[in-house]
Amino acid sequence: MQDPGLIQFDDWQNLYASRMESMRTSAVRDLFAAASRSDIISLSGGMPDIRNLPLKTVSKVTADAVLKEGVAGLQYGNTTGREETKQVVCRLMKDFNIEVTTADVTITSGGQQALDLIGKAFIDKGDIIITEGPTYLGALQAFSAYEPAVVTIPFDDEGMQTDLLEAELARLAKESPTGMPAVKFIYTIPNFQNPGGVTMSLARRKHLLELANRYKILVVEDDPYGRVRFLGTSVPALRSMDDKVIYLSTVSKVFAPGLRTGWIIAPRPILAKINLVKQGTDLCGSALNQVIVEHYFNDTDWQGELNKIIELYRVRREAMLKALQDYFPPEATWTRPEGGLFVWATLPDCVDTPQLLSVALEKGVTFVPGDGCYPGGSGMGRSSMRLAFCYEEPESIREAIRRLGEVIEERMELYRTFAAAGVL
Ligand SMILES: Cc1ncc(COP(=O)(O)O)c(C=O)c1O
Repeated sequence: MQDPGLIQFDDWQNLYASRMESMRTSAVRDLFAAASRSDIISLSGGMPDIRNLPLKTVSKVTADAVLKEGVAGLQYGNTTGREETKQVVCRLMKDFNIEVTTADVTITSGGQQALDLIGKAFIDKGDIIITEGPTYLGALQAFSAYEPAVVTIPFDDEGMQTDLLEAELARLAKESPTGMPAVKFIYTIPNFQNPGGVTMSLARRKHLLELANRYKILVVEDDPYGRVRFLGTSVPALRSMDDKVIYLSTVSKVFAPGLRTGWIIAPRPILAKINLVKQGTDLCGSALNQVIVEHYFNDTDWQGELNKIIELYRVRREAMLKALQDYFPPEATWTRPEGGLFVWATLPDCVDTPQLLSVALEKGVTFVPGDGCYPGGSGMGRSSMRLAFCYEEPESIREAIRRLGEVIEERMELYRTFAAAGVL
């Protein structure tokens, strides 16, 4: 038997599809291995803290799923998902003023599958798509399989800078023979963006929709965190203002990511194509998981449970912001999220966060280096980092930021020494 630690030469490398060249392993996935070591304080993964979920309640709904629904949960189901699960989704969506019927919804294997299905249905090699920069690295991974050209638009405290988007669209329109920008879609995470933590203001949302309508470009609104707000008041969903928007969400951050249950809401012709693509991908999602989700959202105080988790995040976010103030250099900046799981911190240019990570790991801390949240090869984000406050206790967060502050200071000191010696 082969030694599992041995790195094996890949004899098959000439066989892979060319798209594999543009696909990268996720830095976060790779970090999960290190993060599970008990001596590591992990600020890397976006794992919701479900350690206090009432397991008795969850086992009851799971037993109900089998005993009350019989073999339905164990059988193949519809590609688009169970009607009853879609009814739950329609009810949840009403809270966001998104009025849809079950025919407008497809249940997916998490939000992640929805991203892949959108990529598969829309992107040909070289097609332009627009995202926030930085953006969710899992979305970049899903889309990269279809080899798009990704254009990124920066955000500030009000979310995607739509004036820059407007300028970019005008530039692309000029380049295009049709006079319209050849953009397949604009992908945005308007609430508590991953990795930025920022929320798009209402004015920016309206501007984004105005541009999308002017240039006839699809908008994909990815909203896993909309209910995970601990401060401020919610901003209307893009989909509630324009029913041409494709909207995605998931139970991952409001119940349990292990159930891999998400959904996609889209104009019906688009949904028909998504469903077609989905048939070839998985025939149907897990019916059993869908039944569990139905029972959880129909029969339990799920909102009460979520409120308890949100309160944990609020306290941890406070701890992180305070520690950043105390331990990060004065030149550093960071976002102040009103919800979600992440803070995005930007350091002076001389600090290279991919390099910093290996030093931080020696000190027992992980984070996500910013470059992973930009399209591969762009070279952007190398002095930024995503810091997750969702999983560690406040004291551990403070300690992790203190250690990070130390290694950052060492880097900056080294840089100053070299600069003074004229080496740089
Ligand atoms: C912005 C965003 N979209 C989609 C997902 C995927 O979520 P799911 O667990 O439902 O696949 C995540 C997960 O962290 C996310 O942050």
